[in-house]
Amino acid sequence: STGLLGDRLGRPLHDLRISVTDRCNFRCSYCMPKEVFNKDYPYLPHSALLSFEEITRLARVFLAHGVRKIRLTGGEPLLRKNLEQLVAQLAALRTTDGTAPDLTLTTNGSLLARKAQALKDAGLQRVTVSLDGLDDAVFRSMNDVDFPVRDVLAGIEAAQRAGLGQIKVNMVVKRGTNDQQILPMARHFKGSGVTLRFIEYMDVGATNGWRMDEVLPSSEVVARLHAEMPLVALSPSAPGETAARWGYADAEGRHDAAAGEIGVISSVTQAFCHDCSRARLSTEGQLYLCLFASQGHDLRSLLRNGASDAVLASAVAHIWQGRDDRYSALRSAQPADQAPAARRVEMSYIGG
Ligand code: GTP
Ligand code: 5AD
Ligand code: SF4
Ligand code: SF4
Repeated sequence: STGLLGDRLGRPLHDLRISVTDRCNFRCSYCMPKEVFNKDYPYLPHSALLSFEEITRLARVFLAHGVRKIRLTGGEPLLRKNLEQLVAQLAALRTTDGTAPDLTLTTNGSLLARKAQALKDAGLQRVTVSLDGLDDAVFRSMNDVDFPVRDVLAGIEAAQRAGLGQIKVNMVVKRGTNDQQILPMARHFKGSGVTLRFIEYMDVGATNGWRMDEVLPSSEVVARLHAEMPLVALSPSAPGETAARWGYADAEGRHDAAAGEIGVISSVTQAFCHDCSRARLSTEGQLYLCLFASQGHDLRSLLRNGASDAVLASAVAHIWQGRDDRYSALRSAQPADQAPAARRVEMSYIGG
């Protein structure tokens, strides 16, 4: 279905990603390297954060414009106090069809064992958990706070027990750091009902020291898997999806998540900007139209200056209709050493 709004490239607005905190208890080097995100880092003060009421009010405006999916992110969203109250407020909203929005959350899993049931009870439909390897030494060094694999796996199991829908696990692949974990991760999650997705290490933000030679192209991920566990391509389940889907050839025609499904998210080698339908609301209420944007649109000022719902709705429409962002597509059309140098926003601030 097409949304009610189109941007300058004809793309509908279907997906709203809301960052609820810029803080995280992990220090993944590709996202919040310790040298930068140390005790002197200027995290947002509490007064700068959108309140749950402000977030819910904006979400209602976005839903009226055709948004179908709302994802809570961060930083680590489960660090935000009483998050289940926000989940309950968002779960009560409706899309233009009168259905509940697809309400989901991206988490590092560290607090999930404790919170899964309360999130489910509040109306969360599903979760995506980040996990970069099964080997404890590899994972502890990638999260850089010595957090053990075992506790993330316990979080995933708790989410399954709580009935948090189709659980996805995201693994960022860095060549030379955790690429030897690709096969163990696939073996572990095959047949578990969890969809495992491999993400190409991206040049997002300005602090992670990204280098092209640390990107393992998804084509190589698929080739390595295919050599041991033959795969068959699956068709996309929705337009504008980030992941290309693959099923296991030995699943005897059953190509659903229960039989085992993997995904590859190839934003570096195969940009998917052409049908990108995602908007991102930062923790302090700046609307970003691209993960790689250097500037947002200030919705918090409108909210706090007493704008009516109609004014908010027309501001959002105007912003989306002016959108022509397609960073990854432009980026891959250029040699790596000519990548745009503009200071980009950090993923921990804008939300993954
Ligand atoms: P579902 O498949 O519906 O669960 O959601 P999703 O794939 O949109 O969400 P998810 O947060 O799991 O996205 C996975 C990862 O893909 C993110 O953590 C990012 O690394 C990357 N990603 C998501 N959206 C974009 C995007 O618009 N552009 C780029 N370049 N990367 C994205
Ligand atoms: N490249 C790819 N994925 C990233 N993420 C964070 N930083 C990067 C990056 N530089 C992913 C995390 C998590 C989600 C929030 O975004 O692993 O799955
Ligand atoms: Fe935290 Fe996720 Fe960033 Fe890692 S990738 S530092 S878990 S927000
Ligand atoms: Fe969308 Fe920007 Fe990602 Fe392209 S790079 S898919 S426009 S968020």
